[in-house]
Amino acid sequence: MGEKKSREWYDKFLTPQRLAMFNSGVHVERAKALASLVAAAKSSVIFEFAAGGSILCSEILSLLPKASYTWSDFSISALEHAQKQLAACSFFPNNRRRVSFHNIDIDAGYHNINFENVDAVVCVSLEHLEHDREILQSLPKGKKVFLSIPNIDAEDHIRVLKTPKEIQERYGDILDIKTITPCAGLFHLVCAERK
Ligand SMILES: C[S@@+](CC[C@H](N)C(=O)[O-])C[C@H]1O[C@@H](n2cnc3c(N)ncnc32)[C@H](O)[C@@H]1O
Repeated sequence: MGEKKSREWYDKFLTPQRLAMFNSGVHVERAKALASLVAAAKSSVIFEFAAGGSILCSEILSLLPKASYTWSDFSISALEHAQKQLAACSFFPNNRRRVSFHNIDIDAGYHNINFENVDAVVCVSLEHLEHDREILQSLPKGKKVFLSIPNIDAEDHIRVLKTPKEIQERYGDILDIKTITPCAGLFHLVCAERK
């Protein structure tokens, strides 16, 4: 089992090559599948935390032309990479206001975020966060939640949830979980609402 890593650790770990990997292969497959779930729920104000790559943001916004998106992560390497990648997207140059970028340590700062005006919260990185349950608990009731949870261990994964049953056991008291769908042999995609 891995352990919680610091912002400085991620800044070194997230080389341009590694960040490019988070925007390719199974990550593209996952981003397309998760984006279609977010789009089907007609989300319009979307908040993503511990985002890492930028592919999910671009896939979601390509399906939701009127949505606004907050992209956040505590790593400066990830932030700079996402700003550069998203600036190259066709939707971005003419409408910069659709994406705002924030350098947020979500584990330390979740209680300072006002989620009232957000209608969908997205995260593909709960396994990196110490306060995964507290963060979800801080969401107002009824908020839509879209998660991707990997079934594998890594040096920066604090926990591994391999099956839908394990996901339900960890988050089912906080979230009304509607669906858990396998994706690319590596992830489970979760559609839920804060209870
Ligand atoms: C490396 S990505 C990988 C995500 C996921 N495992 C995947 O397969 O796509 C994880 C991201 O979480 C971010 N992260 C980790 N802890 C964080 C925290 N406390 N606050 C904000 N971002 C965090 C890292 O900076 C990194 O960009």
